Amino acid sequence: MAGSPWSYIAADGSAQNRRIFWDRDIYERELEQVFARCWALVGHVSLIPKPGDYITGYIGEDNVIVARQGDGGIKAFINACTHRGNKVCHALSGNTRSFVCAYHGWAFGTDGSLQGVPMEKAIYDKGCFDKSKRGLTEVAQVDTYRGLIFATFDPSAPPLIDYLGDMAWYLDVYFGASDEGTIAFGPPSRARIKSNWKVPSDNFAGDSYHVGWAHASMITLAVQQAGGERIGPAASVNAEANGIQVTTAMGHGCGFMTDGADGFAVMLKNRELAMRYLQENRARLVERLGEFRGKQLYGSQLHATIFPNFSLLSPAFSTLKLWHPRGPHEIEVWSYPLVDAGWPQELQDAVAHNTMISFQPTGVFEADDTENFEYSTLTNRGFVTRQQNNDSSMGSSRERSKRYADLPGYVTEGMIGETPQRGFYRFWSKLMEGRSWDEIIEGGRSNG
Ligand code: FES
Ligand SMILES: [Fe+2]
Repeated sequence: MAGSPWSYIAADGSAQNRRIFWDRDIYERELEQVFARCWALVGHVSLIPKPGDYITGYIGEDNVIVARQGDGGIKAFINACTHRGNKVCHALSGNTRSFVCAYHGWAFGTDGSLQGVPMEKAIYDKGCFDKSKRGLTEVAQVDTYRGLIFATFDPSAPPLIDYLGDMAWYLDVYFGASDEGTIAFGPPSRARIKSNWKVPSDNFAGDSYHVGWAHASMITLAVQQAGGERIGPAASVNAEANGIQVTTAMGHGCGFMTDGADGFAVMLKNRELAMRYLQENRARLVERLGEFRGKQLYGSQLHATIFPNFSLLSPAFSTLKLWHPRGPHEIEVWSYPLVDAGWPQELQDAVAHNTMISFQPTGVFEADDTENFEYSTLTNRGFVTRQQNNDSSMGSSRERSKRYADLPGYVTEGMIGETPQRGFYRFWSKLMEGRSWDEIIEGGRSNG
């Protein structure tokens, strides 16, 4: 593609050659250039509160163990025995003093150290076997941001706070709204679907466009339940009004309505409870988050993707989603319902229930999305089909609105547009080219 930073993406991100959703060699390069370098969400602190608590998760296709240490810290390790490479932990979560390999019995502490080797003295030559060099391989960096646990294999990756960059300001709308923080419910629900991982990442970063169409039946139902009142994204077909789309450095993207209420208004059940909470807490939220976030963003529907494959929704369908790649045409979707621990119990229960029936494998919205994600991938089976380009040019001319020039990142006015997608593919392209973090960060706030 002419002028492209990497030949499959237009320079401004507005077109992508469809081979990036199909070709095996591109996928293998992604595992190396994207997943082995970026920060990935590997859990939530509420899932491992006590020493010895652990969860397992993925960074790309690499399985990792994330364990709470005796001193309260968190470490992550590759979930593979250093003897013959067998998986050492088969559970999704638990509490333990050690991980014992099922193959020959090597035992590792929750700090990753190799502690026990059956018949060690009898079978290894004296002085030739150093257990301290055979601990589980530690993931290079682990850090948390407001309860979210991230990890990266790349020791040269920028600190997490810099990687999140401007996106942290938007995450704080829901992750920084109370002293109590958030609670994730695990283990996650899991489902395999036949989609390339970038399709849902792109969708959650910024696809408000599909909501009124792909989810029309559910939106209609929600409107009926609200007594015929027009609510939620379906009401926002006026692309110039009522919302923002954001892209930031590192390819993250998000969107909000700006009425400060539609996110709770689309509750499928217990709408009144949520609206009352908003009303009673608005002054506190404004004090905590400032005028714009407290009044206009809190209460609004948030959708976001933290590059590469961690997406989230809040508040009514509050969930953390991970699109774990499983080859170029398949993903494992992990979903954790999420609530604010500062909400009254009734509201926590209502949102968790709402999330279960909407954005889990059996959820009504998820079913709509899955079919579209799968066919957006599988049409590329056709050799000629996959030589074509996808189009993400919507709203290019009104990108970076003056009205929101003071907000972090690049903000486009209006809920419907493809600013976040263009930012997502521009950053993907930089990583795939193999640019170093220094080169990538050099542009400062730039995501171009
Ligand atoms: S592979 Fe784990 S003990 Fe041999
Ligand atoms: Fe959707």
